[in-house]
Amino acid sequence: MALRNMPCLRNMTFEGQVDWTTGTRGRTMKAGVGLFSALALFLLIGAVVTQRPRPKKPTRRPATTRRPSVLLPAVPEPREPTDFPPVILGPPSVYPDCPRECSCSPSYPNSLNCENRNIRVIPVIPLRTHYLYLQNNYISEVTAEPFKNATEVRWINLANNRIHRIDKQVFEKIPALLYLYANRNQLKEVPSGLPASLEQLRLDRNLISKIPAGALSKLENLTLLDLHKNQVNLTGINGTQICPFSLEADQSDNSLVPRLRYLRLDGNHLTPPIPMDVIMCFRHLHSIVI
Ligand SMILES: *[C@@H]1O[C@H](CO)[C@@H](O)[C@H](O)[C@H]1NC(C)=O
Ligand SMILES: *[C@@H]1O[C@H](CO)[C@@H](O)[C@H](O)[C@H]1NC(C)=O
Ligand SMILES: *[C@@H]1O[C@H](CO)[C@@H](O)[C@H](O)[C@H]1NC(C)=O
Ligand SMILES: *[C@@H]1O[C@H](CO)[C@@H](O)[C@H](O)[C@H]1NC(C)=O
Repeated sequence: MALRNMPCLRNMTFEGQVDWTTGTRGRTMKAGVGLFSALALFLLIGAVVTQRPRPKKPTRRPATTRRPSVLLPAVPEPREPTDFPPVILGPPSVYPDCPRECSCSPSYPNSLNCENRNIRVIPVIPLRTHYLYLQNNYISEVTAEPFKNATEVRWINLANNRIHRIDKQVFEKIPALLYLYANRNQLKEVPSGLPASLEQLRLDRNLISKIPAGALSKLENLTLLDLHKNQVNLTGINGTQICPFSLEADQSDNSLVPRLRYLRLDGNHLTPPIPMDVIMCFRHLHSIVI
């Protein structure tokens, strides 16, 4: 804009000077020159105004396609989730407790299918749900409220959302949980309070740099732990603290041998040598990828 104004301003000034040097039109010319000066001044101010530094480009994704204009009063920039597509609601279900943003099939009464619905907030989960599908949505937080009655949940798929927080109270509501898939989210640490029943934990492709002490302890039935493509480094991982079982336990007692069989830690910031306590923790593994 500023660049377009400048040549225009120069042209106007030039024309005014030509008229001024001929000096033949007297009063009218003076008025004309005065007008030109005013116009030039006006354009100059305009040019200066338009040259004012533009507001910094927003670092987050622009919320609308509207371009910011310096001449309009500043409108607060819309923030996510306003730019998310609307939630997709289905037809009413034969189950009165079926949330509209999910589908409930009479053939699979224990499944609640809420994937690919542009959901931001987890709906109230019906009591009969064992298998909960919430993948591919825009969920950012998992709170205990929707799980109040969902005491029977065995599997939860939360993959590919924007989750940065899972309240530990969630797991108090679902003590029978076996599989938790929360891969492809924005978690910064392994969730705390995971239920002791857990068998599979997929947390790959998050931003995890921290495994809180004891986060994996008591998970005696954990067979799969996937943490690949995170930010874990060797200061953030302490074999003694992350081990799903006690390193001091008597290894001759077979019932104490951990069931963990499959561990992925590749795509983190772990460079050999791997500390002894980490090796001790995972020495029963059938498969480890670091
Ligand atoms: C839980 O179930 C009870 C009884 O079925 C019902 O009255 C209540 O509204 C439910 N709570 C939630 C949060 O859905
Ligand atoms: C672990 O698995 C065994 C065998 O399936 C089961 O008896 C036990 O209750 C499980 N432990 C927990 C804490 O759920
Ligand atoms: C390693 O992880 C810890 C968190 O557990 C973090 O505070 C630290 O900055 C990380 N170090 C590097 C070099 O990334
Ligand atoms: C890991 O944690 C244990 C117990 O909290 C502690 O004794 C040990 O020094 C820690 N190891 C490292 C390498 O920080």
